[in-house]
Amino acid sequence: MVKEKLFAKMSRKKIVAGNWKMNLIAQEAIALVEAIAQLKQNNTAVELMVFPPAIYLQALQHTSLKVGAQNFHPAEKGAFTGELSLNQLKDVGASIVLIGHSERRELFLESNSFLKEKVDAAIAHKMPIIFCCGEPLSIREAGTALEFVTQQLTESLFHLSPAQIVDVTIAYEPIWAIGTGKTATVEEAEAMHKGIRAAIEAHYQSSEIADSVSILYGGSCNATNAAELFACPNVDGGLIGGAALDAASFIAIANAF
Ligand code: PGA
Repeated sequence: MVKEKLFAKMSRKKIVAGNWKMNLIAQEAIALVEAIAQLKQNNTAVELMVFPPAIYLQALQHTSLKVGAQNFHPAEKGAFTGELSLNQLKDVGASIVLIGHSERRELFLESNSFLKEKVDAAIAHKMPIIFCCGEPLSIREAGTALEFVTQQLTESLFHLSPAQIVDVTIAYEPIWAIGTGKTATVEEAEAMHKGIRAAIEAHYQSSEIADSVSILYGGSCNATNAAELFACPNVDGGLIGGAALDAASFIAIANAF
């Protein structure tokens, strides 16, 4: 059983993704991507990707790193002032999108049903997804974190077919750990990742499907704590905020596998 789990982990995609949020200007973004590409050398065990502010996607599209968009609007086009469509993001080089980051949920009031629309739009565009989920502190303290996260997945993601869900990457990011310097303990992270995998298995009635979905951890993950987090049987990489803004620390995290 342990051997099987180990094999399942080895066969899943390993990803370290940098979410730059609303940081950097063009010159800094280009310099950061160049520094990361140079430092990454031949590390092919882990897929590295960055999510810059969308206005810099075009300038970064020829890097050897995968570049993605932090956000998009699910409509094809139209009267959505200030928003960007998937066609526009593809046009400037985005090849993956984040959906449901907690800052989108909390600050911009994106609901599970709106995020479902985004999931469907991305699937229709054959655009790969990192779907973010995670609970606020009050829910963690109430002891209902797994139920909360399972509901987020159920309402936005579990309508996908088996063939569609296996291509989705999930990022678990406890809100109380984002940008706070407070990381989930290894036990807390592993318990939630295991719980998410069990929820996928229960919904799709398939351990094969559950075992094939990569689940990343996010929330104050850095060069110091990445190795022990990534050693967990159900943690397949990280979605990194603050520590992704420095090439050396981002690469140190990638090398923590
Ligand atoms: P952090 O952010 O690493 O700065 O906590 C992670 C995220 O929000 O994706």
